[in-house]
Amino acid sequence: MFFSRAKSLVGLDIGSSAIKIVELKDLGKGKGYQLLNLALERLSPEAIVDGAIMDAGLVVDTIQRAFASRKIKGSDVAIALSGHSVIIKKISIPATSEEELAEVIPWEAEQYIPFDVEDVNLAYQVLKGASGDEGNMDVLLVAAKKDKINDYTSVVSQAGKNPQLVDVDVFALQNCYEMNYGDEGDSAKALINIGASTTNVAILKGTTSIFWRDISVGGNHYNDAVRKELNLSFEQAESLKRGEEVDGIPIENVTPIIASVNDFIGAEIQKTIDFFKNTTPGENIEKLVIAGGSSRVPHLREALAERFGVPVEPLNPFHKVQVGRGLSPELVEELGSSVSIAVGLASRRAGDNR
Ligand SMILES: Nc1ncnc2c1ncn2[C@@H]1O[C@H](COP(=O)(O)OP(=O)(O)OP(=O)(O)O)[C@@H](O)[C@H]1O
Ligand SMILES: [Mg+2]
Repeated sequence: MFFSRAKSLVGLDIGSSAIKIVELKDLGKGKGYQLLNLALERLSPEAIVDGAIMDAGLVVDTIQRAFASRKIKGSDVAIALSGHSVIIKKISIPATSEEELAEVIPWEAEQYIPFDVEDVNLAYQVLKGASGDEGNMDVLLVAAKKDKINDYTSVVSQAGKNPQLVDVDVFALQNCYEMNYGDEGDSAKALINIGASTTNVAILKGTTSIFWRDISVGGNHYNDAVRKELNLSFEQAESLKRGEEVDGIPIENVTPIIASVNDFIGAEIQKTIDFFKNTTPGENIEKLVIAGGSSRVPHLREALAERFGVPVEPLNPFHKVQVGRGLSPELVEELGSSVSIAVGLASRRAGDNR
């Protein structure tokens, strides 16, 4: 990989509320990356529901608009899937050779994934380090539904781009963290990407991930609660959530609704972290690192810090990325919280297999 001349890819994050694009330049020789371009184009909430593409035309249009908005020329892209259509499992199997492993994996996968093996694409990676059981090895198994892969790659193709690589949101998130904070100590931390409908959680020890989970909560919960309580439209609720004024609605009416959803989201994240702690005794999470558009909801960060009693820091996807000339610091700052997945994707290369 180090000497790879494989083409660099444009990171294209097809989120249910917005399309995000990031283009990086690899500066080579371990010098890191330069940010060449980035874009965000909002997507109507009916276009992708629960991770399923309901209106492909709208998604195609929005992808095209996002590319055009910042004149992004690259057309080989990396995308990612998340949610129910992806299963990630660490499995322990009798140690075998590489060749044998390729044959064994589909059989092993059958026991661990809730889908027919015929219906999924399987990827795997042998994990370094000793397995818990003598004579066994740990393998990271990833299964993604073929129909989902097909739905997502086909909107990309229809938008005139070449889908070269399909990743998984939590891995792209982890990748973004490693690129930017790879040298930070050995403590366990939870990376939490809070989107519109999904929250991706990756727990890392040092830079090794030890747990992954997608939970079905996110920014839409705020919009739904504000809409219902105050009898408003999705768009009005969206503005209020972002702290913008909406005619005739005093902010005091909105604050308690947002606070209660902050509590709800915190509780859902806590369920996941408690599950991790119960299944991985002896590990303490020492820090939360938050990303995703919804990490900017007023007071969510404070609510999480209070609930978990640990520091909560925003992930800066450009912490170690040089920002190219011609990009306004305001744009980079404004989009920063939303583009972690796209940054993680943009550092992938054609031919990377995860
Ligand atoms: N400034 C802000 N304040 C509050 N919420 C915000 C802000 N900016 C964006 N959001 C919310 O963040 C969410 C979008 O975040 P993001 O782009 O990470 O999600 P997504 O990738 O589109 O969704 P998903 O991954 O769940 O399909 C939306 O719910 C949006 O309302
Ligand atoms: Mg997302």
